[in-house]
Amino acid sequence: MAITTTINGKPVTLDGDADTPLLWAIREQAGLTGTKFGCGIGACGACSVHIDGQVTRSCQVQIADVAGKKITTIEGLGGAPGQLSKLQQAWIEHEVPQCGYCQSGQLMAASALLASNPKPSDADIDAAMTNICRCGTYVRIRAAIHAVAGA
Ligand code: FES
Repeated sequence: MAITTTINGKPVTLDGDADTPLLWAIREQAGLTGTKFGCGIGACGACSVHIDGQVTRSCQVQIADVAGKKITTIEGLGGAPGQLSKLQQAWIEHEVPQCGYCQSGQLMAASALLASNPKPSDADIDAAMTNICRCGTYVRIRAAIHAVAGA
């Protein structure tokens, strides 16, 4: 089956079995490889994207479920191509990434959190940010989120 969806503001046709994971379609058909495969079972958050503004683990969504929806990936988080969001700039200023593998998912989760809660407490951040970082960058993630929240 073929479905049409919007990724980072552009109409995109995704083709494949109805149960093709959105993660694979984003990476292999749309060519947007910033969205990462970690666990494939919805546990780690490396594959997080926004679907109609909601942070979602794309390994757990089938392409049949995103027809007509608006998807944002890490490549679209800053708006225009090559432009960084304030949150991405804070990530750089606070030297958040270590190995970096989980960080696109972390940024998608953090940006969704700030959209719904512009001044999150540490407890709010811990509750919302369930993405796993094997390098343990959680303290710097919190600092970068607070920096944007206080700006
Ligand atoms: Fe989707 Fe881990 S790869 S949650």
